[in-house]
Amino acid sequence: MDVVSGRKAVKPAPIWLMRQAGRYLPEYRNLRQKTDGFLDFCLRPDMAAEATLQPIRRFGFDAAILFADILLIPHGLGQKVRFVEGEGPLLEPVSASEEFGPDPFRKCLHALEPVMETVARVRQALPKEVALIGFAGAPWTVATYVVGGRGSPDQAAARLLAYRDPEAMSGILHTITLATIEYLSGQIQSGADAVKLFDSWAQGFGSEDFARWVIAPTRAIVESLRRRHPETPIIGFPRGCGHFYERYRRETGVDVLALDNGVPVEEAQRLQKAGPVQGLLDPLALIAGGPGLDRSIDGILGALGSGPFVFNLGHGIRPETPIAHVEQLVARVRRSTR
Ligand code: CP3
Repeated sequence: MDVVSGRKAVKPAPIWLMRQAGRYLPEYRNLRQKTDGFLDFCLRPDMAAEATLQPIRRFGFDAAILFADILLIPHGLGQKVRFVEGEGPLLEPVSASEEFGPDPFRKCLHALEPVMETVARVRQALPKEVALIGFAGAPWTVATYVVGGRGSPDQAAARLLAYRDPEAMSGILHTITLATIEYLSGQIQSGADAVKLFDSWAQGFGSEDFARWVIAPTRAIVESLRRRHPETPIIGFPRGCGHFYERYRRETGVDVLALDNGVPVEEAQRLQKAGPVQGLLDPLALIAGGPGLDRSIDGILGALGSGPFVFNLGHGIRPETPIAHVEQLVARVRRSTR
């Protein structure tokens, strides 16, 4: 699907936003109140489908992203996962793959069966020109939560384990990788037009560690999905990896690079020569709105709008984002013809 893969330049650039379903929308907050916790929400196909469709109805984005979370995989593998209001995710830390218990893959696929139902429902409800993007966390980022038990400013617990006991970390990544291949393959079979791998903690590595912990598991997923679903575009988001972006695309084989807002536009232009890119807009520019937002949008479109590009944020939209600013953004991107 050109709209999401960005394989061809489309004008105006297609647009959707990372984490476009969520707390900045009153209709989301309303739906959320009716759930018994966030995991329950993600695993109820009627509610998750509704949350996926809300931003499409309101803004008319070119793509919907499945409403789910990257921590469904650890939950499926048998780890205790909770989401605490105002605190984010809390997991009972695991430091070796054996702790996932017996038969983790069958358990995981069974537990995540409702997500497939959500995908099928959303695909059926969406107009055919709107793409549906499935997703999972990339294994390294999921492992940082599996090992650390929560988010932190540098995900030190997982990085320490990777230095101290690389075999244990490899085992954890291996289990997550195999589960993720089946999970994403299931999403594609159920109707996802593209899939995205969120590697939100890809920063801070030297070359060897980046290859081992970020590239290798991602490549394993891309290779398997490619064999099973050769036509389905794969988007990779190795947030904050800086100079490694180019190598990441070449060595993992992802089709589309999602760029964080720390990537200079000149660098984005260079990366775009080798294939489609998306992203860049600072989520804070969207909160600020006004002429500052317009300048950011115009700068990005001016640099990248003539090549294969999908407009997006450089990281997830924040709960305090005014709806009027999202409307301003969509209108400006749609008016542009460059
Ligand atoms: O993009 C979408 O609209 C689809 C849904 C989606 C969610 N999480 C829903 C969610 C996606 C793609 C994610 C990805 C995700 N989840 C990432 C990678 C992207 C990134 O932002 O770096 C990560 C690291 C997580 C883990 C996670 N889930 C955290 C750290 C938190 C707490 C912080 C926060 O944003 O609230 C969550 C909770 C979460 N995931 C919410 C939503 C809508 C908020 C929960 C609520 O409504 O109470």
